Amino acid sequence: MDVVVRSVEAVAPRIKSFELADPAGAHLPAFTAGSHIDVTLPNGLVRSYSLLNDSRERDRYVIAVLHEEAGGGGSAWVHESLRPGDVLEIGAPQNRFEIDEGGDHNILIAGGIGITPILSMAQRFDELGIDYRLIYCTRSREDAAFCAHIEERHGERATLHHDGGLRERSLDVDELLRVREPGTHVYVCGPPGLIAAVRKAAGEWPQGTVHFELFGAVRAGAGAAAENKPFDVHLRRRNVTLHVPADRSILDVLAANDIRVRTVCRDGFCGTCTTRYVAGSVEHRDGVLDEEGRKSLIQVCVSRALPGDTLVLDL
Ligand code: FES
Repeated sequence: MDVVVRSVEAVAPRIKSFELADPAGAHLPAFTAGSHIDVTLPNGLVRSYSLLNDSRERDRYVIAVLHEEAGGGGSAWVHESLRPGDVLEIGAPQNRFEIDEGGDHNILIAGGIGITPILSMAQRFDELGIDYRLIYCTRSREDAAFCAHIEERHGERATLHHDGGLRERSLDVDELLRVREPGTHVYVCGPPGLIAAVRKAAGEWPQGTVHFELFGAVRAGAGAAAENKPFDVHLRRRNVTLHVPADRSILDVLAANDIRVRTVCRDGFCGTCTTRYVAGSVEHRDGVLDEEGRKSLIQVCVSRALPGDTLVLDL
């Protein structure tokens, strides 16, 4: 569908927020907290952005975009070219980071631009009168977006944690999650290191109580690229074995062999390229699959087999 940019606001030195509305002023499709939309940019790139506004609002979607110098150019175009009055093509909201409204206590942890879905979630818990805490980690207050809104709306429930870019001052998630009160869920969205730390600290929590969404899994993939090792994939239904070199993804190799897998983000966070595997060991690098899903599914755009292994895909 087409939407029009109603307003643009610089909310931090490298973050702008964009208010999108129906061009004719009609209601937009409803969404739930944690949802994202896929935005098609004029150069054909598709980027996913979380909706940060109150999920009861039907007259607008609000997204916030971090200008990433090392990105694929999508955020640069959005920052430099997108103006009020412009029309954008977007997909209907989808939610792969849903909240469980049955929890009694909720710990919401955001790192950097990962604040966007967390804001909508906090708003929702507030509306429902369900207990929550919001912890927002950034390097400094200047790097943080929406501070005034968070303080005003969430008051003492919100903690702004600034680490100055120093590892030794980063949020102590082990301490934060050490004792789990019954009925507690944790939600985390941010860079790979933060998500990994939370998942590790909550490793013993009951299944279904640890929820996460990775922002920019491409960065995780890029970080690991230097350590990529070759491996083989065997396509069970076709009975062919393909070699995946260190500098190619499974998706690249499948495409080179005319095997089409649907993709959107190619960054491991939209969930479109999910493929079933039946044997082999996977190094999961995505931000969408939970522990259960990872036992039989792989995002072929970013994840890999363990070096030297043969991964058997249900293709
Ligand atoms: S294409 Fe989005 S997760 Fe693979």
